[in-house]
Amino acid sequence: MTAHRELRGDVAVLVPAAGLGVRLGPGGPKALRLLGGEPLLVHAVRRLSEAPCVGCVVVAAPADGVEAVQRLLEAYDVTVVAGGATRQASVAAALAAVPAGFEIVLVHDAARALAPAGLFERVAGAVRGGHGAVVPVLPVVDTIKQVDAAGAVLGTVDRSGLRAVQTPQGFRREVLVAAHAAAVDEHTDDAGMAEKLGIEVHTVAGDELALKITRPLDLALAELLIKATED
Ligand code: CTP
Ligand code: MG
Repeated sequence: MTAHRELRGDVAVLVPAAGLGVRLGPGGPKALRLLGGEPLLVHAVRRLSEAPCVGCVVVAAPADGVEAVQRLLEAYDVTVVAGGATRQASVAAALAAVPAGFEIVLVHDAARALAPAGLFERVAGAVRGGHGAVVPVLPVVDTIKQVDAAGAVLGTVDRSGLRAVQTPQGFRREVLVAAHAAAVDEHTDDAGMAEKLGIEVHTVAGDELALKITRPLDLALAELLIKATED
């Protein structure tokens, strides 16, 4: 592995990577599963390290895998901390390790291993432009129906006002710190915590390459995508 350039930007990126990958099936923690022969986490860190805005990367690794992840990422300019039992706890652990001086913090799932550097620039740029919280979004392509407990359809939701949310999500540092300090319930994303505080969350265009690798089919699609971009 070649040594990576020193990071020079003013944005910190937190990478929660401590999940089990239950939905992906047997095979160890998801962030360490291979995609094109390389762990998902290495794909994610390589791509985000190419974004000029990035100046600090903190990875939350499985608690029993901190040293292994440090070795895996030794060519990169990253700090590795032990993650927690939930995504939220892992993000909080990584946030606590961000040095002073980084006023913009992005949170990016290792599971979105193919998110391109340009997406980090877009999200960070919107935070720099004055938004306290920013999420990348895509239109919802499926028709969405509300159902009752028995599975009967109650109605069709107007999807024109719906968006699927990705990561990296970007924040003024004090917004993310306040959101985590105030959170009582578990949230599936960080912007959700900021919303609870009444913070306005801005959207920017997402990227299809930032798909979340969750189930086996997603991994198969990601394999095809990296082959297509290598050719
Ligand atoms: N994550 C984490 N700490 C946890 C749980 C999740 O850092 N305790 C991270 C995952 O590693 C992943 C991101 O949060 O990069 C999004 O979570 P998800 O896609 O749900 O991944 P897993 O929790 O690993 O998968 P599953 O829910 O299928 O077990
Ligand atoms: Mg999970």
